[in-house]
Amino acid sequence: MPSPRKLFVTTALPYANGNFHIGHIMEYIQADTWVRFQRMQGAQVNFVGADDAHGAPIMIAAEKAGKTPQQFVADIAAGRKPYLDGFHIAFDNWHSTDAPENHQLAQDIYRDLKAAGLIETRTIEQFFDPEKNMFLPDRYIKGECPKCHAKDQYGDNCEVCGTVYAPTDLIAPYSALSGAQPVLKSSEHFFFKLSDPRCVAFLEQWTQNGVHVQPEVANKVKEWFTVRTNPDGSTSEGLGDWDISRDAPYFGIEIPDAPGKYFYVWLDAPVGYLASLKNLLEKRGEDYDAYMADPALEQVHFIGKDIVTFHTLFWPAMLKFSGRKTPDKVCVHGFLTVNNGEKMSKSRGTGLDPLKYLSLGMNPEWLRYYLAAKLNGRNEDIDFNPADFMARVNSDLVGKFINIASRAAGFVAKRFDGRLGAVSHDGEVLLCTLRQQADTVFDAYDKRDTARAVRETMLLADRVNEYVDANKPWELAKQEGQELRLQDVCTTCIEAFRLLALYLKPVLPALAAQVEAFLNVPPLSSADAHTLLGAGHAIGAYQHLMQRVDVKQLEALFEAPAQAESRPDAIETVAPPSQDPGGEPIAPTITIDDFAKIDLRIAKIVACQAVEGSKKLLQLTLDVGETGADGQPATRNVFSGIASAYRPEQLVGKLTVMVANLAPRKMKFGLSEGMVLAASHGDEKAHPGIHLLEPWPGATPGMRVR
Ligand code: MSP
Ligand code: ZN
Repeated sequence: MPSPRKLFVTTALPYANGNFHIGHIMEYIQADTWVRFQRMQGAQVNFVGADDAHGAPIMIAAEKAGKTPQQFVADIAAGRKPYLDGFHIAFDNWHSTDAPENHQLAQDIYRDLKAAGLIETRTIEQFFDPEKNMFLPDRYIKGECPKCHAKDQYGDNCEVCGTVYAPTDLIAPYSALSGAQPVLKSSEHFFFKLSDPRCVAFLEQWTQNGVHVQPEVANKVKEWFTVRTNPDGSTSEGLGDWDISRDAPYFGIEIPDAPGKYFYVWLDAPVGYLASLKNLLEKRGEDYDAYMADPALEQVHFIGKDIVTFHTLFWPAMLKFSGRKTPDKVCVHGFLTVNNGEKMSKSRGTGLDPLKYLSLGMNPEWLRYYLAAKLNGRNEDIDFNPADFMARVNSDLVGKFINIASRAAGFVAKRFDGRLGAVSHDGEVLLCTLRQQADTVFDAYDKRDTARAVRETMLLADRVNEYVDANKPWELAKQEGQELRLQDVCTTCIEAFRLLALYLKPVLPALAAQVEAFLNVPPLSSADAHTLLGAGHAIGAYQHLMQRVDVKQLEALFEAPAQAESRPDAIETVAPPSQDPGGEPIAPTITIDDFAKIDLRIAKIVACQAVEGSKKLLQLTLDVGETGADGQPATRNVFSGIASAYRPEQLVGKLTVMVANLAPRKMKFGLSEGMVLAASHGDEKAHPGIHLLEPWPGATPGMRVR
């Protein structure tokens, strides 16, 4: 027996300037599936993530939101859990690149690189915003394209004619932050000397030795060793040095012995992988240095194809030349599009809102299955297509796999008191076929070719269904003297179902847990592919394991975007154009004076909790900027029927709109002192979903809405 693998696994650290979108969720599902598979194989895994907190865009977004950057990223971090729990993504730790561990580690790594002679300072000229008193990142400089003279183009390239240039080439440049005319100012910057022959030799070997990255990634990286594109669009030979410093004001980590200088966000971001791990190990009382020093440890990063340079050049070089362990694998995936849409915006995503998916009662494992069936371990883009999604889940997952259990379990319970019987020769042959595929399926998972793992498993499910159709247990059940054969056939089905559930367990962890309970077995691991439940084993009661996708759910999921941007590939919506927008006619006309009677205010949800004894209600504590008789801030208590759409922790800290002068209402659970506003369809059954209103940034508690 080889000793178990020891794995340290990460996903890219998402910028803490927005909620997760479906692209993030795809990456986490891919990594989580791989981690679950490795654990089933007996590996010891630490799987960590963190928020990428630093950088100019987050600093600027925080300022716009009227928050400190720390508060801004804390608010984003507070919203992460419902997504991760909702899709069964089981990180062992979630941390932040602004945490103390990261400050310490990033500074240590920098000191070591400096000691290795790989840090150099140079004076460079850059645009400076004299009003904001800060150097401007390229994307915050706009102006007229020097080539086609299109106005309002970004500092790095023209979106109209495609020309690549340096910000200094723009005609009439202005700051996108203040509108001021930027001035050129020089400043000392710190560089990591990637052009040093030691770095080049190491990186060529590291990226091209066929071990650490996929072949298609290695090929792409190869080009960077020969030519590189400069900011002005010209090209130079070989790797360039990397500018790792930014001037204050900057939200980041201070560079040691360099007052007013901060690490560029991409210097400390990957260090966040180590910081999150260190934080986890220390919480458990384990030693980080000892853990990292184990030569058996494998370090694996899952990332998207847009951040390959950082992970295959800068990051391995930083680790190598600071005397640390280098990554063992960087696993690169492509982009997820929705409805053949454009590559979605990195910060916002489009089309498929993960929380909306969950709030519609859609099963997270449908999405896990669908993505697993499409991801093959290469860095190709994949598309979420609603019709394809429905077909794969309903016909394959439910139709082929789940149905095997429902076809056999009833008879075992009713006729044999839940006991399995002996399997005769034809059943043995079938089970043997299933067992023989274990290594093929496991090998596919290990290579992240989940498409193959799922495909092979579904082919096996086909074999089982052929066996069921040939033996017709429902007919055996009616025939006299066929008791033993019926038990034999049903036992074969249950044994087969267990093997298939085992093969799908990395993708469908919650379903596997239900199956384990139903079969009355401890958690399935890879080794169980070579065992059987055996005659005499008693199974539990069968409860339906998984619903089919309802087309109405998909319609609801894509409702808003499907109207906003016409999507030729969207699924056909069956509802005819109606006179009743949103499912009900517009109410009779009122005057402005009628409307003025309703006092609508911006309210901050300062606390929120479930209501014991009610599935529908949430109890909200709202701040509408009022002061009590005692001069202290006063809050309102409001019960709202939104429990089906939101979990309490999603709402805390959010702003919404409330009717502030509604007569208080005594309810079974207490006094409700107002009402929050939410949108829903007139026909709630056909179009489920409740959507709380949220004001644009800038509104504060107490402001009147008119
Ligand atoms: N903060 C950096 C990563 C730092 S890692 C030390 C970043 N953040 S991100 O939020 O923009 O992206 C996080 C991950 O999500 C990246 O791996 C990125 O490739 C991935 N995706 C973003 N949009 C995606 C899709 N549409 N589809 C699949 N993955 C996508 O980059
Ligand atoms: Zn142009």
